[in-house]
Amino acid sequence: MELNRAEKVIKNYPDTEVLKGMDLTVREGEFIGIMGKSGSGKTTLLKVMGMIEPVTDGKVFYEKDNVERISGREAARIRREELGFIFQEFFLMDSLTVLENAMLPLLIGKKADTAGKERARGFIRKFGIEGLEEKMPSELSGGERQRTAICRADDRPVRRDSKAQKDRIKSLIRRDSKA
Ligand SMILES: Nc1ncnc2c1ncn2[C@@H]1O[C@H](COP(=O)(O)OP(=O)(O)OP(=O)(O)O)[C@@H](O)[C@H]1O
Ligand SMILES: [Mg+2]
Repeated sequence: MELNRAEKVIKNYPDTEVLKGMDLTVREGEFIGIMGKSGSGKTTLLKVMGMIEPVTDGKVFYEKDNVERISGREAARIRREELGFIFQEFFLMDSLTVLENAMLPLLIGKKADTAGKERARGFIRKFGIEGLEEKMPSELSGGERQRTAICRADDRPVRRDSKAQKDRIKSLIRRDSKA
């Protein structure tokens, strides 16, 4: 039986085109893995198919019903009782930008001077999230959020291969998977 179907789905955020005409049918009993690099749109696809985000264009069906015809209340019931989501989440301050989150330990320690800012920018480059400094956490992909949190955790220089740093990253990731 068909459970969930995306048909020519387009999903844009204000400044990003994410899904560009996606087709996917999910049938009962199937196990599906979706792979793609960070920021490529995997979570967006789940949100659209799970009726959390509206599509920009195209159609989504849940058990043969076009989700446009499913009320918000019914969609909430389906999400609660029939679909199960485990989202990537991270403990970032929602009201601070990526750069401010990365600098949080410095801000708290009152060391947010030019040198501190430069160091935070260095971590932002090292973890591949440059260009996102002024974004808010709600505008990031899950992996981008994780990497912002890692920048924040990484508030003092440690060797790349140091056990302390690896342990810190591992415990952050473990916290994420429990969230
Ligand atoms: N609410 C939002 N507003 C604006 N842009 C967003 C929003 N959510 C996601 N984006 C952007 O849309 C793109 C896709 O994000 P998405 O969360 O679907 O990626 P992903 O494939 O799940 O990545 P990851 O593997 O890091 O979890 C990214 O470029 C992200 O920055
Ligand atoms: Mg994701």
